[in-house]
Amino acid sequence: MQIRPPRRRRSVLYVPATNEKALGKIASLDCDAVVIDLEDSVAPLQKQAARERMQDFFAGREKDGREMVIRINALSGEWGADDLLAARTCRPDAILLPKVETARDILEANDLLDDRDARPSLSLWAMIETPRAMLNIGAIAALGRDRGARLSCLVAGTNDLVKETGILATPDRRYLTPWLLQMVLAARAGSLDVLDGVSNDFSDLDAFAAECTEARNMGFDGKTLIHPAQIGSANVAFSPSEKQVAEALAIRAAFALPENADRGAISLDGKMVERLHLEQAERLLARADLQ
Ligand code: COA
Ligand code: MG
Repeated sequence: MQIRPPRRRRSVLYVPATNEKALGKIASLDCDAVVIDLEDSVAPLQKQAARERMQDFFAGREKDGREMVIRINALSGEWGADDLLAARTCRPDAILLPKVETARDILEANDLLDDRDARPSLSLWAMIETPRAMLNIGAIAALGRDRGARLSCLVAGTNDLVKETGILATPDRRYLTPWLLQMVLAARAGSLDVLDGVSNDFSDLDAFAAECTEARNMGFDGKTLIHPAQIGSANVAFSPSEKQVAEALAIRAAFALPENADRGAISLDGKMVERLHLEQAERLLARADLQ
């Protein structure tokens, strides 16, 4: 597996573009990234007001290095094209495309951006939230290896997946889990980051912390959030633990010993450690060092 340039995306908070109070709170919040939402959290009659409010917000905010993303409406619908135009003027780090169903949907968004000379650093994130997206996930994620396609992150849209498939949403997410794992697998094949879906219940923080830990164990890089109360648990769950850091340092130190310079596999505390574990350890340490 290749080492992807690490970018912290442990806690990614949605903020409706029309929620004045929530927009005002962003600067004080400790989330790694923010998604200003023009899509499902904005009522149909508010779409234009939302674009304008978003533009005012970006014009007025002080940059703090935090990754800023804008979720537009689907380009196939009546609002998407105007959203894309408005989003570009805000110079976000990424545009999140909802209801992506095929690799072509990403390429078409990309063409629209290229037609308008979007800067190369503007990336695309894709929501995976429909049955078709799940069936096409391999081809969608493969675009991550095509630099020109701008794709850098997949985002699980679990509420829509539940709605579109008819599965029962249970607290343990047993029916969603196979698809979530499939998203992680596809993301890795495409060298992409992948974020877990939201948890609607922002009052049960113990359950939320457990869901974050489970998502981390499944391989997700972070979790999308709907409420500030969820940020702390996500930051903890998706940061390497002290124990993991200590183990990684021990592996690095063991391979740095002169007697191990030419060895592929060594013994450490009674366990076999190979150079692939060294790579894994270096990746974890790189993540732990990020600010
Ligand atoms: N981002 C930033 N601040 C938020 C926030 C968010 N997503 N959600 C709530 N807040 C703020 C509130 O403005 C409030 O601020 P205050 O302390 O200055 O009064 C504080 O956090 C506490 O909020 P609370 O009263 O508990 O919730 P609420 O009733 O104001 O909002 C929701 C609840 C669900 C409507 C709101 O959290 C929300 O809109 N979340 C995002 C929804 C979304 O984007 N959905 C689409 C993606 S799934
Ligand atoms: Mg959705």
